[in-house]
Amino acid sequence: MDQTVLDWQPDHRDQSAPVLRVGKVSRRFGGVTALDDISFTLGAGQVLGIIGRSGAGKSTLIRCLNGLERPDAGRIEIEGRDVTNLSERGWQKERQRIGMIFQHFNLLSTRTVIQNVALPLKLAGVAKAERLARATALLDLVGLADKAHAYPAHLSGGQKQRVGIARALASDPALLLCDEATSALDPETTLSILALLRRINEEMGLTIVLITHEMNVARRIADRVLVLADGRVAEEGPVREVLMAPRAEETRQLLAAASLGFEDAGRPVREVPHGHFA
Ligand SMILES: Nc1ncnc2c1ncn2[C@@H]1O[C@H](COP(=O)(O)OP(=O)(O)OP(=O)(O)O)[C@@H](O)[C@H]1O
Ligand SMILES: [Mg+2]
Repeated sequence: MDQTVLDWQPDHRDQSAPVLRVGKVSRRFGGVTALDDISFTLGAGQVLGIIGRSGAGKSTLIRCLNGLERPDAGRIEIEGRDVTNLSERGWQKERQRIGMIFQHFNLLSTRTVIQNVALPLKLAGVAKAERLARATALLDLVGLADKAHAYPAHLSGGQKQRVGIARALASDPALLLCDEATSALDPETTLSILALLRRINEEMGLTIVLITHEMNVARRIADRVLVLADGRVAEEGPVREVLMAPRAEETRQLLAAASLGFEDAGRPVREVPHGHFA
């Protein structure tokens, strides 16, 4: 990619330390234990797929990773910094190093594509010429240079998510969090977005946490997979090991469900309502 994009900020990545270290994290809501003693580590440049059925605790976990939810117990470190007890002000600074993309894209409808991408830089006080240059380079990276002055309403779902990805990369994050980022997209578009994320991971060395209820999404992109069931880690490991020799019953069930209606190796996927795969 454009060298100016990579050089835009001093390199803050410490390749020797894990980017993410989660130790014994728990979170309860009244009588519901959403997260129960969650521990895992993620090295720089790795892609972690967190998979689990509805209610397993995936969103609660990702919200703990960006400070929108506070664990009741345990510890979270990002690039070696303990963020567990950060104040809201501390999290505002920390979040500049964390990119987020969402199922429903969360673009501002009254702003053009390039304005959406440049917005985090505007909020960070970056001068106009610099933020427009950076946003232009990022739109080029995600293949949307020709849509810079369009409004989100005039884009397809896949194009909107490309804008979401460009915006998430604007502040040169160390970590990208994806909450069901492809769940609103058709199968073909899902594959193109996963391919884009993989390319960004490889070219920029970006560490990615992607939560999904779809085993085949994890299969396509992850280096490691963490299976969540009822707020607990059912199993965690390299994607090949977990998918080819699953140890947990929950993993076997998710794999069985995936194989029923899922594609493999590029064959078309059968789609059922609400954008989920059968
Ligand atoms: N703010 C909240 N207040 C009360 N209960 C909550 C809250 N947030 C989550 N929960 C509960 O915690 C559990 C885990 O929810 P979470 O949203 O993390 O699941 P999920 O794996 O993301 O599910 P889905 O795939 O449906 O998005 C659920 O039982 C949910 O009802
Ligand atoms: Mg969720």
